[in-house]
Amino acid sequence: MKVAVLGAAGGIGQALALLLKLQLPAGTQLALYDIAPVTPGVAADVSHIPTAVKVSGYGGEDPTPALEGAHVVLISAGVARKPGMDRSDLFNINAGIVRNLIQKVAEVCPTACVGIITNPVNTTVAIAAEVLKKAGVYDKRRLFGVTSLDVLRSETFVAELKGKDVNAIKVPVVGGHSGVTILPLLSQAHVEDKIEFSAEEIEALTKRIQNAGTEVVEAKAGGGSATLSMAQAAARFARAVLKGLTGEEVVEYAYVEGNGEYARFFAQPVRLGRNGVEELLPIGEISAYEKAAIEAMLPTLRGDIELGEKFVNG
Ligand code: NAD
Ligand code: LMR
Repeated sequence: MKVAVLGAAGGIGQALALLLKLQLPAGTQLALYDIAPVTPGVAADVSHIPTAVKVSGYGGEDPTPALEGAHVVLISAGVARKPGMDRSDLFNINAGIVRNLIQKVAEVCPTACVGIITNPVNTTVAIAAEVLKKAGVYDKRRLFGVTSLDVLRSETFVAELKGKDVNAIKVPVVGGHSGVTILPLLSQAHVEDKIEFSAEEIEALTKRIQNAGTEVVEAKAGGGSATLSMAQAAARFARAVLKGLTGEEVVEYAYVEGNGEYARFFAQPVRLGRNGVEELLPIGEISAYEKAAIEAMLPTLRGDIELGEKFVNG
């Protein structure tokens, strides 16, 4: 199998390259691409780590060599937030970057599973879908917005608050990937047994999870947004997709085109397999608080999606 990372010289990209070199199954090829001239050096550097993952690196304007034969493509190319910015403020620069890279994916590896990390994810995934559609190669089972960082954060924060084993805890997160569109389903949080929360805890945890990206942006004080935790989240996502592609069934949360019950794209549990998303799983029973939160997020989420569709189709 071959995994390509586009944006590989960035904060996420370099950490992700390291984690993939360490975590991908033996024999996997890892191709690193970034417009930054340092990229072949990043590849050389990470290639010296003794694991059975073969690394190649490409700079310049054309991602084609990195994409040739790729089964999984992870895109973190683009700019990151600074304090005071919202994810939607990144649209003007990142929309065009994602569009251009996806056009290359459509040409070079149209059947790859593509995970979009670049913000605003609610919108960049819609851009990617429309570009692939225009090229006649869109398969909704193979396009994902990577929202696994929201799951990682929820599991970490809930485990800390409740003194639970962070390696065993499960906290689903649905919706999208910005502000109120991020919705942890705390009513379903469990280790073996369901975890109980007071109304105050639910309110505070939900807000903290929704603002966790901003927490990091502010703490980095102009130095960017989450990179290390994001890299771990993306590595987990990539391993899950690869497991699926090689015949092992696995469930992950991701922002995918579903049945449109809530919005065209919605983060939800999916069963991954040989074709990418094999089955959209229901979000299950949710509390009245969560139902209201989903209703409240929908205008924002739908607007974010429409912005991406219009960017491509005019
Ligand atoms: P960064 O600035 O450190 O790195 C971005 C990299 O993209 C740079 O190396 C740059 O050279 C490269 N790049 C720019 N245009 C390119 C192009 N056309 N082709 C290839 N490479 C290109 O930023 P970062 O911290 O790595 O963040 C990247 C993106 O990920 C941001 O948009 C950020 O908001 C987003 N992000 C998403 C999540 C999530 O949960 N989905 C989490 C954290 C960050
Ligand atoms: C995050 O959730 O950390 C990312 O989306 C980056 C950001 O801008 O917050």
